[in-house]
Amino acid sequence: MQLQNKTALITGASSGIGKETALLFAKEGALVVLTARNIDKLKEVENEIKNNNGKAESYSMDITDRNQVYTVISQVIKDNGRIDILVNSAGIVKWSSIEDTSYEDFDEQVKFNLTGSFNTIKETAPIMIKQKSGNIVNIITSTVKKTKSGRVAYAASKYGQAGLSNAVHEDLKDKGISVVAVYPSKTNTPIHDPYMSKDDPQREKMLKPEKVAEVVLEAALIPTEKDVKELVVNP
Ligand SMILES: NC(=O)c1ccc[n+]([C@@H]2O[C@H](COP(=O)([O-])OP(=O)(O)OC[C@H]3O[C@@H](n4cnc5c(N)ncnc54)[C@H](OP(=O)(O)O)[C@@H]3O)[C@@H](O)[C@H]2O)c1
Repeated sequence: MQLQNKTALITGASSGIGKETALLFAKEGALVVLTARNIDKLKEVENEIKNNNGKAESYSMDITDRNQVYTVISQVIKDNGRIDILVNSAGIVKWSSIEDTSYEDFDEQVKFNLTGSFNTIKETAPIMIKQKSGNIVNIITSTVKKTKSGRVAYAASKYGQAGLSNAVHEDLKDKGISVVAVYPSKTNTPIHDPYMSKDDPQREKMLKPEKVAEVVLEAALIPTEKDVKELVVNP
């Protein structure tokens, strides 16, 4: 029970890496604050956690909507008094080359993958600074380490998110707050559903989201004195 008495807010907690992280954190004793847009899917995860004697609560929160982010985080503080861990897992993927990337698709991916993480960190950092403690984990992607063709908007938004994570790491490391970027390789989650069938053999070669969740847990336990900025997860 490595997260006993901790409150962990997770974005994208209804699916894939965020969901597996939520289930694992709850097993480790955390009160898990589950967030995503679709409340029904969050409630399914909440019920699974509660059926296993874990603690969870759900909020519909679109990370691109600053009013929603402010309102939800204020409510969590009102109810629980603190946020010990923030995991930014919410994200979207639309793969396309420079010729095929529309202006709208580009703006959308930057808004979801970069600005969304900025919004949650912007609201949570002052709380953690006041607490003089906290752990922020940002889920980036191995695309940032080795970009392939046809990833224009996704790569740009994720490089931005990586830069955000590194910059915030430097800002907060002397304030008792650890900020770690996790770089997973391809992971078998619903994010790939628009590009491949559920039984595509390629999926077997991908990381399992449960395995990435274990690394997210490691990242969330890193003390600020260690000054660890990133963890890379290979298959
Ligand atoms: N799967 C991979 O191969 C892989 C590899 C490396 C990195 N990643 C990164 O890992 C993260 C999680 O990916 P995943 O594969 O677990 O994806 P996923 O299974 O598709 O889950 C995405 C989650 O994000 C939520 N979400 C999307 N847009 C949102 C918004 N505007 N506000 C709040 N929540 C939002 C979704 O719920 P709602 O739709 O209900 O909001 C869902 O819970 C992403 O940042 C992705 O870039 C994934």
